[in-house]
Amino acid sequence: MLILRDGSVIGLTDRMNHPAEVLIVGIYQDPSGPEIAALGTGVDARTAAELTAVLSAVGATGKPEEITRVPAPSKTGSRSVVAVGLGEKFSVDGEQIRRSAGAAARALSGVESVVCTMSQLDLAATAEGLALGAFSFDTHKSHRSVGQCNDRLSTIHLVVRTPLCESHLSVLRRSAVLIDAMTSVRELVNTPPNFLYPEEFARRIQHRAQGSGVVVDVLDESDLRRGGFGGILGVGQGSIRPPRLVRAHYASAVPGALTLALVGKGITFDTGGISIKAAAGMEHMTSDMAGAAAVLFTCLFAAELAVPVNVIAYAPMAENMPSGSAQRPGDVVTQYGGTTVEVVDTDAEGRLVLADAIALACEDEPDYLIDVATLTGAQTVALGSRTSGVMGSAEFRDRVATIACDVGENAWAMPLPEELRQVLASTVADIKNIAPQREGGMLVAGLYLREFVSSTVQWVHIDIDGPAYNIGKPWGYNGLGGTGVPVRTLLAVVEDIARHG
Ligand code: BES
Ligand code: MN
Ligand code: ZN
Repeated sequence: MLILRDGSVIGLTDRMNHPAEVLIVGIYQDPSGPEIAALGTGVDARTAAELTAVLSAVGATGKPEEITRVPAPSKTGSRSVVAVGLGEKFSVDGEQIRRSAGAAARALSGVESVVCTMSQLDLAATAEGLALGAFSFDTHKSHRSVGQCNDRLSTIHLVVRTPLCESHLSVLRRSAVLIDAMTSVRELVNTPPNFLYPEEFARRIQHRAQGSGVVVDVLDESDLRRGGFGGILGVGQGSIRPPRLVRAHYASAVPGALTLALVGKGITFDTGGISIKAAAGMEHMTSDMAGAAAVLFTCLFAAELAVPVNVIAYAPMAENMPSGSAQRPGDVVTQYGGTTVEVVDTDAEGRLVLADAIALACEDEPDYLIDVATLTGAQTVALGSRTSGVMGSAEFRDRVATIACDVGENAWAMPLPEELRQVLASTVADIKNIAPQREGGMLVAGLYLREFVSSTVQWVHIDIDGPAYNIGKPWGYNGLGGTGVPVRTLLAVVEDIARHG
């Protein structure tokens, strides 16, 4: 049995009549009617047939994420059954199971305990889908404090076919750490910008790292000034809440382990600065630190699982505000390392803070470097809101994009066309921070960042503008707000580097 950070419990059982309020089953979509996937022991064939007949009678089809709730047949240990569609039997993969489990969990408001049989298809995906689907962010709901909070899903029992063994437990332990990382990222992303500003963000990370073996260093504004971090300082200077640069370091005990540097954009709120954004939808800019949260929790996660790879996460944090002290369009700032930039648009602030951190990260001489950022609206224009853009060193880029798709966080490799580099030529500085035209906006941002990566490092840039934050409608295991993307990808990349170098 595993206890998650929020106190909820995930346990294993070999009997689907394990007592719970609700029994969750997956159903396949078939022309001859719904077919229950993997029932498991503890219930006889008659009960199974009865359940199939009931589902069929109320019109369940099994199409992906369809929810059908019926009274439970008497021999189960539950009061009702939630049947969730898995789609066609032969096209079901881990991500479909994760999404369907998530849809089932989202449909269960007021239910505290469930037993689920879908785990026989994929234990990790079922655990992750249920826990992520049950996530809700209610820190700032006033009813919490007076004890009127709705009961939430806090006890999950997963049915496993074979006798419980160490390999089930290790799969579940990994999922529990992953769930913790993803929900922690979601929580930080959803935390309102008046509660989460650079100093507080850094403090929360230091707090979480206590006892983890991860060493966290925080550079404050005077350290940043002394160090010459002109990009972070320029973006942060319009806010009364000063910027920070957080470095979290997990050193593997394994001799000769490779080193992965991670850099995440940590803009705790992006008004655009003097190049101010339109008012409509600006509240979503509380999510502009999703990259920073993802890389920091990936580092903590790698430590918790003792993955044999050194992980160093950098998170430049600033609040991009307009004010009398804000940087102006036309200002020239000096990035860490000496490159001068003409800040043509103060709303292209992400690349300014990232460039400082990327240049610093390269001083560690990592084997690999991945930066993650809600960087451009152009990402969503190009790929939609659920597919991240992946750019950088060709081989590593393709590897990361493939891994992302494998773990169900869709991503697509994008080019960095050489001819677009010249649009960043400046007459007053070494480079300017935006192009005069909008074409290829995601790629131009990638080309900007490339300037700061040393040539010996395998580098990937992931633009998560759309995928990090759901403003559409809930789907799969995602509610509204932070999604946790791309934590699953980053973790899988760390593990892949551990295996294959
Ligand atoms: N944080 C934004 C990108 C963004 C936009 C994230 C919408 C989530 C939703 C970023 O700092 C930004 O403002 N990018 C500009 C770049 C432009 C000025 C070159 C953009 O995409 O408009
Ligand atoms: Mn911006
Ligand atoms: Zn931004």
